[in-house]
Amino acid sequence: MQKINLALLGFGVVGQAVYELLSKNATRIAKITGFHPVIKKILVRDLKKKRKISIDKGFLTTDFNEILSDEEIKIVCELMGGLEPSEEYILKSLHQGKAVITANKALLSERGEKIFTKLNQRRGYLGFEASVGGGIPVIKTIRESLIGNKIHRIVGIVNGTTNYILTQMQERKMDFAKALRLAQEKGYAEADPSLDLKGIDSAHKISLLASLAFNFFVPYDWVYVEGIEKIQLEDLEFANQFGYVVKLLAMAQRVKGKLEVRVHPTLIPEKHILTSVRLNYNAFLIEGDFVGNILLHGLGAGGYPTASAVVSDIVDAIKYIASGQNGLTIYPLYEKERKKEFRPIEECIFRYYFRFQALDKPGVLSKISGILGRHGISIASVVQIGRHRGKGAVPIVMLTHETKEKAVRVALKEIEKLEVVQGETVMLRLFEEKG
Ligand code: NAP
Ligand code: HSE
Repeated sequence: MQKINLALLGFGVVGQAVYELLSKNATRIAKITGFHPVIKKILVRDLKKKRKISIDKGFLTTDFNEILSDEEIKIVCELMGGLEPSEEYILKSLHQGKAVITANKALLSERGEKIFTKLNQRRGYLGFEASVGGGIPVIKTIRESLIGNKIHRIVGIVNGTTNYILTQMQERKMDFAKALRLAQEKGYAEADPSLDLKGIDSAHKISLLASLAFNFFVPYDWVYVEGIEKIQLEDLEFANQFGYVVKLLAMAQRVKGKLEVRVHPTLIPEKHILTSVRLNYNAFLIEGDFVGNILLHGLGAGGYPTASAVVSDIVDAIKYIASGQNGLTIYPLYEKERKKEFRPIEECIFRYYFRFQALDKPGVLSKISGILGRHGISIASVVQIGRHRGKGAVPIVMLTHETKEKAVRVALKEIEKLEVVQGETVMLRLFEEKG
């Protein structure tokens, strides 16, 4: 049986899970592929760090050049995260003719222009299944299984950490900080968890999926993004009273000749299938012109599911190497002028949820609804919760009919200037399937 040597860059949550998976299942993979994947070196920052997996120290190194210059190492798996030195190590590995695998959506989404160009020039291999959806094979599904389709839409819950937090808040009334701490302990969160909370990790992922769906590279800064930091338990409860569940949704779609790519917390009707996606699960609803709608669902964060995706790429890399390193894949290229095909958020049309904090005085509701009316925003339902006995504010919550975002932004600014309204309005968008 032929051996194929690989190196791991990073031995944290994902790196150790890949090691465990290969320790358990490499023989099985060898029987299927004819090649036995063997980890030869592992790059870490700190040789003395105590780790879950105990490993012979001889495998570990802090010197990337040991890996780069080792001609026996054919596959490099970048599982460190961050932009630097990951980008440098990936580009150098590709330059050296090694196949590369990465779970680093931040890097690909922010620096993909350079990396994908290099790949196309060298006909190199870069597997990035683990960068989106944890163990869910969403990249392969779009690139391979759905290759015959024009993709109209991808709607997904693509971040395990925020979905875990929202689920725990909603179902167990857990406070935000505790839910985040648990998500971190379970290894779901990014090293900097603000990437999860601010929606940035979701934006990285949807930018990659949009790139595959639209066939050109959609960089991170073309994605409109909002996170879940402003959401409070009471918003989840009000949404429930109106028959909705709040999820952080990522979307890439073609609407009336324009492209829309965005991430924001969204009210989804409680009967919609995406509301059953709980905890660290992710899901992707993909619509193609021939296949119709398909749904992928599975564990979107955590070491083991992510390792499953990394190893599927290792097997693809083995096939690439065995077939003479002649990559057939074309990676999506940056085409600056395509930006004008994107619809800015101000031009998008939604139904909205608003929560105002307003003084409990006569006429307040009519002042708010008067401003909304002047901007052509029509209210579908409204509730004023409770009566405040002191001088404090009470929430006024409403749902609107469909309206353009531009009008909403102007109206909310005006409303926030009213003396009877306190603080910033919580504004969330609704997702409703037509037909
Ligand atoms: P992690 O637990 O923080 O592990 C990072 C590893 O990289 C550590 O072993 C660290 O070394 C090593 N490292 C970092 N910077 C380094 C440097 N400059 N030189 C050498 N080694 C360095 O992170 P993780 O959760 O495994 O995530 C790794 C990647 O997978 C990230 O891109 C992340 O976005 C992605 N990802 C994670 C998940 C998940 O559920 N965790 C899922 C999908 C994708 P030390 O151990 O010595 O500090
Ligand atoms: N932090 C990411 C998440 C890891 O929570 O989804 C998986 O990409």
